[in-house]
Formats: sequence, structure tokens, C-alpha cells
Amino acid sequence: MTEINGKTLLLGIFGDPVGHSLSPVMQNAALAAAGIDAVYVPFHVKPACLADAVASIRALNLVGVSVTVPHKELIIPYLDELDDGAALIGAVNTVVNREGRLIGYNTDAPGFLTSLQRDLQFDPQGKEVVVLGAGGACRAAVSALAGHGAARIVIANRTEGKAALIAREMSDHFQTTEFVVANLTQSSLKGALSAADLLVNTTSVGLAGESFPGHIVGGLSGRASVYDMVYAASLTPLTQAAREKNLPWADGRGMLVAQGEEAFIRWFGLKPVDGVMHAQVVEK
Ligand code: ATR
Repeated sequence: MTEINGKTLLLGIFGDPVGHSLSPVMQNAALAAAGIDAVYVPFHVKPACLADAVASIRALNLVGVSVTVPHKELIIPYLDELDDGAALIGAVNTVVNREGRLIGYNTDAPGFLTSLQRDLQFDPQGKEVVVLGAGGACRAAVSALAGHGAARIVIANRTEGKAALIAREMSDHFQTTEFVVANLTQSSLKGALSAADLLVNTTSVGLAGESFPGHIVGGLSGRASVYDMVYAASLTPLTQAAREKNLPWADGRGMLVAQGEEAFIRWFGLKPVDGVMHAQVVEK
């Protein structure tokens, strides 16, 4: 880490909780490797303090912040400007302070795309994808996939109505992608799974070791890939199931790294040194 002096710049992450976040080690390693005189720290911001915390970005002249649960949607009204991608997704994970103007970005979507390419060599162009879940992470995944030419996206959620809302909004935006809505039952998902090139889990299922019903990975053909936004020290239940079926799989570590690299680029206008953030996430 940099030796702190009178010119050291400050940035960090707003979350509640925040203690589990790997972003401080990732970002500080990238700052050191790039020779940037700045430090990145965790800020435990309770929801009731979010407005004050955002005002402090300006007051303390922070370079910017990362934003995590539960603030990604709630922070939007306090910002001065929203990037188009963040507006479509309705969530911000990166704030840049441009001389007191706070601009909100969502780097989860480009981070997801980078990870798909890097970790699965997967290009969404013309592909059929089943996305599990209908929260902010689903919106990031769907906008990234549709924005890169996916032919058909099936949004499958336990509560089907939430999937329908996302499908309606996204189909207004991306006219060449077909959007379909499903729930998680075998009868609803069967055809979509057998036709899928990619299955993406955007829910928190697996975080505490819980699994989806076996028909989900069981319904995929032998040419599908599996992407689990959840990550754990070892395999997640979903990536374990994919591995048992000999399907290419990746977990959320690649997306964590790539969204962090994209945030760094927005704060400092340069790419972090290759592999530095990745090494922190894999070693921790
Ligand atoms: P995020 O913004 O991180 O995507 P979220 O908005 O809380 O998080 O969304 C969580 C998603 O995970 C939802 O789609 C939720 O399904 P419901 O809409 O039916 O609540 C899904 N989810 C969470 N726990 C689940 C479980 N045990 N089984 C199936 N889906 C689950």
C-alpha cells in the first residue's frame, strides 16, 4: 500500500455490511501496481446515513466510491448524473466524482460480459440464454446479453411477475432480442433449458450452500455453459452440478474482478495492470 502523505487521494466502498468485501484488497493492489498515490477503504454506511455519506464524497473530495448491497438502487436519487447503462439497469455500483459532480455507473454489466469472454470464451451474439432471477443482478446480465446481440433471453424467476416486468422493459430497449418469461418449475423451463447455450444464475441461491432443483442443470444440453454469479471458496452447488455434467462453467469471481477493473478505469482513466485484481481474488 502507498505511504500516506499530504497528496494521497481517497476512495472506497459504501455497503452494509461491508466487512466481507474483497474490493479493498483488489483495488489497493491495483493502485500500488499502477503507482497511483491513493487508498481505497471500506465505509460501513447504514441506509439511514446514505444521503450524508454521498454528500461526503463531495465534501471530502473522494475520487469516487464503489456501491454495494443495499445501496445500489437507493443511491440513485442523490447523484447528479446517471450513465445510460446504469439508468437502464436501475442500479449503480460505481460513483465518479468529477469536480463535485457525482456520476453513477454500473460496471456489473460490462464486467459480466468481460468475464463471459475471459472465463468461458462465450460471445452472446445470436445465442439463447436462460437467466435465473429477477433482481438488479438479473437486469445487469440481461442488458449486457441483449446489448451484445443475444437472440433469445428467457428470464426465469420464482416470482414470475418480476421477470415479466424486466422482460417488458428490456424488450422496449432491445428490439432484436426475443424475451420470454418463465418460473423455475420443470414444466415452465424444459424447452428453454434444452435450447440454451448459456445458463446464468443471478440469484443468491448457493451462497449458503442451497441448490436449485436438479431439473435445472439436468435440463441443459451437452453444449450449454453455466455461469453462476455466486462465488464461494470452493465450487458452488450450481458449478459443481455443471462440472459433474462436463459443462464449461464459471463463477462470480471473474465478474467481481472485471467490474472492479471497469470501475478503476472510470476513476483513473487507465486500465489496471493485467491480472493484479484477479490474483487478489483467487488467493483470498
Ligand atoms: P439482486 O439485486 O442482487 O439481484 P434481489 O433484488 O434481492 O437481489 O433479487 C434476488 C433474486 O433472487 C430474486 O429474483 C429472488 O426471487 P423472487 O423474486 O422470487 O424473490 C431470487 N431468489 C432469492 N432466493 C431465492 C430462492 N431461495 N429460490 C429462488 N429464487 C430466489
